[in-house]
Amino acid sequence: MTPTGTLDALLVEQRVFRPAPATIIEANVKPHDLAEATALAAADPLAYWEKAALELEWHRKWDAVLDDSDAPFYRWFPGAQGNIAHNALDRHVHAWTKNKLALIWEGEAGDCRKFTYFELYREVNRLAGALRALGVTRGDRVCLYLPPIPETVVAMLAAAKIGAVHVFVFAGMSAKVLRERINDCRAKVLITADGFYRGGRLINLKTVVDEALAGVRSDAAETVVIVRRSGDDIDMQEPRDLYYHDLLRQESPEAATEIMEADDPLFWLHTSGASGKPKAVIHGHGGYMVGAHHTFRTVFDIKPTDIHFCTADPGWITGHTYGVYGPLLTGATVILYEGHPLYPQADRLPSIIERYGATIFYATPTLIRMLMRYGPQYPKKRDLSTLRLLGSVGEPLGAEAWMWFYKHFGESKCPLLDTWWQTETGMAMISPMPISVLKPGSVGKALPGIDADVVDAAGHSVPPGQGGFLVIKKPWPGMLLGLEGDAAGYVSTYWEQIPGLYFAGDVARRDEDGYFWMQGRADEVLNIAGHRVGTAEVEAALTSHRFVSEAAVIGLPDKIKGEVAKAFVIPDPGWVEAFADADAFGAELRSHVRRELGPIVVLRAVELRDTLPRTRSGKILRRQLRAEELGEGVEGITATDD
Ligand code: WT7
Repeated sequence: MTPTGTLDALLVEQRVFRPAPATIIEANVKPHDLAEATALAAADPLAYWEKAALELEWHRKWDAVLDDSDAPFYRWFPGAQGNIAHNALDRHVHAWTKNKLALIWEGEAGDCRKFTYFELYREVNRLAGALRALGVTRGDRVCLYLPPIPETVVAMLAAAKIGAVHVFVFAGMSAKVLRERINDCRAKVLITADGFYRGGRLINLKTVVDEALAGVRSDAAETVVIVRRSGDDIDMQEPRDLYYHDLLRQESPEAATEIMEADDPLFWLHTSGASGKPKAVIHGHGGYMVGAHHTFRTVFDIKPTDIHFCTADPGWITGHTYGVYGPLLTGATVILYEGHPLYPQADRLPSIIERYGATIFYATPTLIRMLMRYGPQYPKKRDLSTLRLLGSVGEPLGAEAWMWFYKHFGESKCPLLDTWWQTETGMAMISPMPISVLKPGSVGKALPGIDADVVDAAGHSVPPGQGGFLVIKKPWPGMLLGLEGDAAGYVSTYWEQIPGLYFAGDVARRDEDGYFWMQGRADEVLNIAGHRVGTAEVEAALTSHRFVSEAAVIGLPDKIKGEVAKAFVIPDPGWVEAFADADAFGAELRSHVRRELGPIVVLRAVELRDTLPRTRSGKILRRQLRAEELGEGVEGITATDD
C-alpha cells in the first residue's frame, strides 16, 4: 500500500454546534458519564465491555471477556451462553415492556400494522415452531428474501430463537444473486413473500424466486415459505412451496429458545459490494448483541418513550443492528416502512414521522440528498417537532447535506449523529453522542472502548490534520467472527494490509480535537502529482456549490500529474438559468473546487448526469464510473451486485 501524502485538511470546516442544556440534562450518557466511560475504556477496555454485557441477560456468564489466543480470530465472552432472541423478545414478556409497541409498520399504500412485544413474541414463537417442524435445527441456514414487512422481523427473530443462522438477501437483488447465495449457504429453508409495493407498483417477488430456484443445488431451499403480502397470483409448487399463514395456523404461541454459545453464528450478511465482490460476514449471538444493545442505548440515547424510525431496509446491516436488534434489545418502538421514500410525494417520510410521532430519524446521505433536491417545503409541510435526534450512515454526508438535514428536519435543535461503521464492525464505532459538540461533515470521535486511529502504511499514527488509513487497534464486541468459508480472506483483507491492525478500507483524517473526517474508500483515493486526495473531499467541495446536488469523483490517468480528477455531477435544476451552457457551468465548478481545495486538485472534466450508478444499498459505484470512462469492462463490477 502506498503511504499517504501531504495534501491534507483541504476543506476546513469551522462551524460547530453545541447541545442544548436540556439535551445534556436528559441524555443517558451525560458529560461526566462519558468522561468516566472514556477513562475506564482507556484503562481497561475489557472491564468496560464486561459492564456493557452485564446490561443483558445470559443463560450462563462468560469464563473470560475476551479470548485473543487465536488472534485475529477474537472470541468475545467465551463460555457464555444465551440467545439474542431471549433479550430482544422473551425477556420483555416478563417486564413492563410486554404490552408496549415493538413495531409500527406502514405499507406503501398507507396500511398500518402494529405489534406489541407480546404479540411479536407470539408470532415469532409460531414461526419458530413451524421452522422446527420443517426440520430446521441449530446451525442450519435460513435464507430471507423479504421486503420490509413485519414478517421480516419475525423471520429474523424466529431463526435466531431456534439457533438457525439467517442469511438475508435484500429483496432488490436479482434471481442470479439470490441463487448464488442460496447455493453458497445451502439454505434449508427460504422465506420470502409473494410481492410488495414500491413506487406505486406491485413488485412480484415470487417470480424472481422461481427463477432463482430453477438452478439451485438439489440440497438447498427444499422448502419455500411464502408470506402473503400482495395477494398476487403466484405459482405454488407442491410440495416445495408453503404459505406462511397456513404454516403458522396450527403452531403454538410458545416455543423454547435455543441456548447458544456466545460465538455461535446468528447471521451471515454480505457486504454491499461498493468496492469489491461482496463478502459473507459472520456475526454471532454474544458479542454482536452486546455491541448492538450498548451502542443503541448510549449513542441513540434510547428512552422508554422513543419511537425510532430507521429508513434502512432490514436486509442491510443498518437494518439488522439499528432497525431490528438494537431497538428490540432496548425495548424501544421501531417504525418500519415498506415503500419508496418519495411515494406518493417527497413528504412521505416527514409524514410518517409526524403521524407516529417519531423521536429519532436515522437515514442515509443518499436519501438526505434526494430529499434536499426536492426542497425544504416537504419537511416544512409536516410537524416534525417530536424529533429529538437525527442520524446518518453509509457514506460521507458532507457539510452541505449535514446543514440541510440539521436545519430542515431537526429545526437546528436535534443533535445530528453521523455514525461511521461497517457490516463488519456490526455496531457504530465512530460517532458523536447527543451531548457532543458537532462539526458538520465530521463523524465525531471514536466511541468509548473503540481504539480508532489514522495511520500510515506501516501502522504509525499520522499527525492531526494529515490523511491516512483508518484502523481499529483493539478488538470490539460487535466485530465480525470471520468471513464465511474464507479464513485466509478474513486475515488478509482486514488484518494484514496494515500489520496487526483492523484495516477498515477507508481513508480519513483526524483533527486537533480528535474528530474524524472520512475521505472515502482507500482504493478510490486520487493521486494527483503525488498528493493523495480522498474522493469524499472533492465531492464535498462540489456539493457545497449551490447548483450541485450530488457528485461522484474518480481519478483518470494523466501523463504529467499521474492522475487528475473527473467529476460526475447531478446538477440542481436552477443551473440552466444561471449558466449559458454546460461548459460554462463546468468551468465554474472547476474554479469552485480550486477555490475550496487549492490549485493542487485538478478537476479535468465535469460531466452532468441525471443519476449516478449505485449499489443496491445506495452507495455510489465509483468503480463503475471509472471503468466506463476508461472503456474497461464493467462486467464483474455490477455483476456481483445486480
Ligand atoms: C462503509 C461500510 C454501517 C452501515 C452502512 C454501511 C462507509 C459508513 C459512514 C459515514 C462516511 C461511511 C465507509 C465504510 N461509511 N458510514 N458515517 N461516513 N462513510 O455499511 O455497506 O458495510 O459499508 O460505508 O466507507 O467502510 P457497509
